[in-house]
Order: sequence, then structure tokens, then C-alpha cells
Amino acid sequence: MAWSLEQISLMTRAIWRRVSVRSYRGEPVPAETLAEVLRAGEESIPLWPHIPVRFVLAADADAFLREHGGTLLGYGRILGAPHFIVAISEVTAGYMENMGFRMEQMILYATALGLGTCWMGGFYSRQKVGHLVGLAEDEQVVALTPVGWPAAGGPGRLLDKTLKAFVPDRGGRKPLERLVFAGRWDVPAGQYLTQQTVLRTALEAARRAPSWRNTQPWRFIITENMLVVTTSRPAEQIGLPYYRLDAGIAMSHISLVALCAGIEPAWVLEPAELAGLRAGLAIPEHYDLIGGLPLDARWHTPAPAAVLIQEPEHATSRH
Ligand SMILES: Cc1cc2nc3c(=O)[nH]c(=O)nc-3n(C[C@H](O)[C@H](O)[C@H](O)COP(=O)(O)O)c2cc1C
Repeated sequence: MAWSLEQISLMTRAIWRRVSVRSYRGEPVPAETLAEVLRAGEESIPLWPHIPVRFVLAADADAFLREHGGTLLGYGRILGAPHFIVAISEVTAGYMENMGFRMEQMILYATALGLGTCWMGGFYSRQKVGHLVGLAEDEQVVALTPVGWPAAGGPGRLLDKTLKAFVPDRGGRKPLERLVFAGRWDVPAGQYLTQQTVLRTALEAARRAPSWRNTQPWRFIITENMLVVTTSRPAEQIGLPYYRLDAGIAMSHISLVALCAGIEPAWVLEPAELAGLRAGLAIPEHYDLIGGLPLDARWHTPAPAAVLIQEPEHATSRH
């Protein structure tokens, strides 16, 4: 999508504000607002332009849940959501990170409009939801999100033991120093993290990204001319490879900050082009190498003021 600079700036600022909303006021969102959110998804910037994705609105959440058998709980209980949006992709190499990259733009767009959302990966019947959205053979339901106006301090919070058990560190994030290395794995990136450059701000935005069970699987290596993105493959995979979707979400945050600074990010994604990097950077075997972003002098200049309006980190998600 040809986002305007104003839209890019609104979405980037929404990065600091977005939280998973699991409790809603219930009242419907105007149809034209929902259409705008869907359009943001459909026309979002892709990582892999050749991979078809689509976003389907379940306008009546109750009917959607009923048809689905009422078991759409996720690991946190979703209360009072008036609508859901289902994200569908063709299944091919790169589809998870591509969907993370694209759907997060839609989520940030919705956040900028004041709407609540919550990435939902698992714990629903992919088959039943697939049936409801008319899934083609080569397609997969990748994720879904409730959409609605957030309830102020809803009652879900205390009730939700499943969420507590499943996301022990909910809302919190690892410090940037543990996520970013310089030149090589495990080498502190201190010198790159001391000033509010475009690069540091992009990494801070990536750090604020939501992730499956808040696992924060991404690690970044800054080389002389590239920012390399890796993501930790879990020993045991529950459901789809969400760790790759998480990488795509973090990459969308990096791209948005870059675009705010007038830099057009040109991600290097072809495995063949990336393969040579692994040994030199000492990337551990259980980390997948997802992409590299060429860096030039502009990344080391001060970040634009508009992007630096960072809201305080939330201690917990809003339910
Ligand atoms: C790919 C993905 C799948 C997720 N799946 C669920 C889910 O099924 N149920 C749920 O309650 N939250 C889900 N979440 C939300 C995360 O738990 C949440 O993003 C994380 O705990 C960080 O909190 P925050 O989003 O409030 O910053 C998911 C997030 C991502 C990125």
C-alpha cells in the first residue's frame, strides 16, 4: 500500500501504545471503520509480494463463535468482542513472517484509530474457522484478532488463570542489551544503543513487538552494513511456527521507523543470500535467519522527533 507519511507516522506512534486487549465494550464498530481496517490489512506492505494473503471480517462475533462451537478462547479469554478478523495466507516459504509483517500493520492502524485488538494464534479449531472463511486447499488460517472498543479495566483480568499460566512475563520485555549484538553473536551492542539514532529507535520498536506467549524470540545482530534478524526455533512447536510470524511483526516495526526517517527499507530475504552470514556471525543452530536490512549512514543519525514520543512500557496487557 502506498501509505502516506502521516499514516506511517500514526502507525509508528501506535507501536508504543498497542497492548493486547482482551476485554471489549461490546458495541459494534461502524462498518466504514471496519472496512478501513480491513483495507489496511489488504493493502499493507508485504515482505514477500508474491504470497497472497486475505483478511476476512466476522462482522457478528457471536454468530462466529457459535458456528465455531464457542471454543474460541485462545490462551487469554476474550470478553465482549463485537467482531473478529481472520488472517489467511497461501502456505509457501516465508508465509509466516510475511503475515506477521502485514497483519501487524493492520493492527497498528486499528490501534491508531483507538480500537483494541489481540493477536490470536492457537487454541481454536483451524479447521472450523477455515470452513467458515472458505479456505482453499493451499491456504491456511494463520491468526485472528478481535476488534472493538476496549473496555476500561474489564473484569477479565483477574479471572484469567490460563493467561497467567501461559504468559508468565505478560507485558514485560527483555532489555535491548539482551536482544541486540554487534558484529557477532553474544557481543554487546552497547555503542549502538547509547544514542537515539534511527537504528536504536527501530530496535526499541522491535523490542516492543507482541509475540506468541510473549516469548520475544527475536535477536538482532548489527554488522558494519547490515541489521540481521534471527528468531529462536522452539524445541517443541505448538501449532504453527509462530516464532517466524513474531519475526515478521518485529520487522514491520523496524520498517515503520525507517520509513518515518525517510529510509526505504530493502530487506534481503532470500535464504541463498543470507546463508553465508550464519557462520561468520556465529548464529546458534536453533536460531532461524530471517532477513537482513542494509544499513548506511542515515541509520546512525538522530531519529525524527515524531517517532520518539514513546509511551511508558505497560506492566501488563489490558484485558
Ligand atoms: C503470533 C501471536 C499469537 C498470539 N496468540 C495469542 C492467543 O492465542 N491468545 C491470547 O490471549 N494472546 C495471544 N497473543 C498475545 C500475546 O500473548 C501478547 O502479544 C504478549 O503477551 C505481549 O503482550 P502485549 O501484546 O500486551 O504487548 C499472541 C501474540 C502473537 C504475536
